[in-house]
Amino acid sequence: MEIINTTARLKSAVQGAKDHGDLVGLVPTMGALHQGHMSLVERALKECDFVVVSIFVNPTQFNNPDDLRTYPRTVEADCDLLAKAGVNVAFVPTVEEVYPTPDTRQFDLGPVAEVMEGAMRPGHFNGVAQVVSKLFDMVEPDKAYFGEKDYQQIAVIRRMAQLEGFDDIDIVACPIKRADDGLALSSRNVRLTAEQRAVAPAIHRILAQSVEDARAGMPLHELKLKVADEINATEGMKLEYFEIVDGDTMQPIARWADSTRPVGCITVWMGDVRLIDNIKY
Ligand code: PAF
Repeated sequence: MEIINTTARLKSAVQGAKDHGDLVGLVPTMGALHQGHMSLVERALKECDFVVVSIFVNPTQFNNPDDLRTYPRTVEADCDLLAKAGVNVAFVPTVEEVYPTPDTRQFDLGPVAEVMEGAMRPGHFNGVAQVVSKLFDMVEPDKAYFGEKDYQQIAVIRRMAQLEGFDDIDIVACPIKRADDGLALSSRNVRLTAEQRAVAPAIHRILAQSVEDARAGMPLHELKLKVADEINATEGMKLEYFEIVDGDTMQPIARWADSTRPVGCITVWMGDVRLIDNIKY
């Protein structure tokens, strides 16, 4: 595996692969890799001939300076994992390499970016669109892989790709990876105390129970209240939001009949750690 720090070298490595007729896959990450990321990497390795994994903690998508400062950074261990998995290139640029001049682009991301994470984290999705569009420009991959834990992010990236004309890039959504106890894998989980970590699987347990409740015919508004009450009654948890949205438009629905692909999206605070998860109904 080659570790590349510059855009120029990245482009020439990818061009070399394309000259051989290789199908190129891109897995954008912010590092602190865990099995969730590695499941995207494994899928990319299965489906593509040449796989680039980017490791870049993108400052423009952090609306909270403390979150950016405390975001875990484990580049050496990440590169070891990627090399062992058989990745071709780890792209590890500096901030100056990605943003030689400040990126002032404002994307017209529309309604998919206005709700939930978009409402709670102003500017976050614009920053995601900035960095992913840059990575798409640099690599011009055939396929790009994203995890469904950040379900809304995938809808936003599809919208950005449509706006920017990245029509030839197949955006592949990969299922959430969970610990054995159900907690969605996330780089932020390492910031939980042992006590918080022991309680955190309640998020998935409560969501999974809500799928049972939905199947048993519970009205949507009742189910939303039940989930909210159960989260807030769990030791150390504070609900930020729980919305049931259409899986394509990301718009909240009022009745089950309003969508053929409802998804429940949740954000929970445990101390100063913000956990997100979702479930399909
Ligand atoms: O999901 C993430 O880790 C990031 O938002 C992404 C897509 C790598 C962009 O920085």
